[in-house]
Amino acid sequence: MKKITLTLISAIMGACLLAGCSTNPADSKTASSTAADSKTADSSAANGNKVKVAFSQCQSSDPWRIAQTNDIKRAAKENGYDLIYTDAQGNTSKQISDVEDICAQGVDYLILDAREFEASAACLDVAKKAGVKVILIDRLVKGTAGEDYITYIGTDFVWEGKEAGKWLADKLQGKGKIVEISGTAGSTAAMDRHNGFMEAIKDNPGMEVIASQTADFSRSEAQSTMENILQSSGNSITAVFAHNDEMGLGVIQAIKGAGLEPGKDITVVSCDGQSDAVKAVISGQLGATVTCNPYYGDITFDVLDKIIKGEDVKDTYILEDTLIDSKNAEERLPLAH
Ligand code: AHR
Repeated sequence: MKKITLTLISAIMGACLLAGCSTNPADSKTASSTAADSKTADSSAANGNKVKVAFSQCQSSDPWRIAQTNDIKRAAKENGYDLIYTDAQGNTSKQISDVEDICAQGVDYLILDAREFEASAACLDVAKKAGVKVILIDRLVKGTAGEDYITYIGTDFVWEGKEAGKWLADKLQGKGKIVEISGTAGSTAAMDRHNGFMEAIKDNPGMEVIASQTADFSRSEAQSTMENILQSSGNSITAVFAHNDEMGLGVIQAIKGAGLEPGKDITVVSCDGQSDAVKAVISGQLGATVTCNPYYGDITFDVLDKIIKGEDVKDTYILEDTLIDSKNAEERLPLAH
């Protein structure tokens, strides 16, 4: 009897391979799953139900976010999932209630790009109580892999800040008065880029950060913040480190508005590698941008596939990035989001 069943399963699998059936484990009647925190089969997959996946995005206000969301949606579709999507619109409390709604819909897996490191840990509590397994992407949240979430897929924000700092130290030959325009307070993107930048410039006593203000990763907020700083500190500013390109581009507008020349009077460096920023590097208005890879789709769904199949996954996956300045901007432009 056992032999007959095995033969039948092999025949069905063989027919599927030949007919090009979907490889999405969600469609497979035999797929079983293991979360990092429990090595037991995922009942929703094992009983043949379609695995339900949601993506909770923290905001959609910049090209980086749009590229990331589009890539997750593309990969979800290609892997056969009807993705449930929510956008917290830059509001940590809204994201917690988004996650509550997602969990109430009986979702199996939550892909979470959380706004803040500490405050967003409430999202993990909600998911844990509901038995929803979490894959963190982009920004880390306070918690433990294998207990509060399965795995974290991100970029190395410390490295990004360090690259920006090293480039600036070289450009300014170790001397200058710097303004830091930082990203969302409490986010790992802002905290780690700050730490990486400070680490990179620390051996240059002539480099001094004379002002550091948040502009929440927003172009318009950065522009008005920089306008105010220019009014008070005027001509003493040598350079600006903006935690993302949107803010770097807002800073450039403010510099121009003050009658100064970005790239000559004040050097600006930022992070993300978005298309407009790479063009600004080519035109000389932006000194450099350190990329922050927004293409999470394939890796996220590959890792999810492993989890569903019960394979081991790592606690952390880090995507690669690079620095773009006048030397490689032309060549990198076609790759920019
Ligand atoms: O967390 C990544 C950062 O968030 C990107 O640098 C920024 O543009 C986005 O909003």
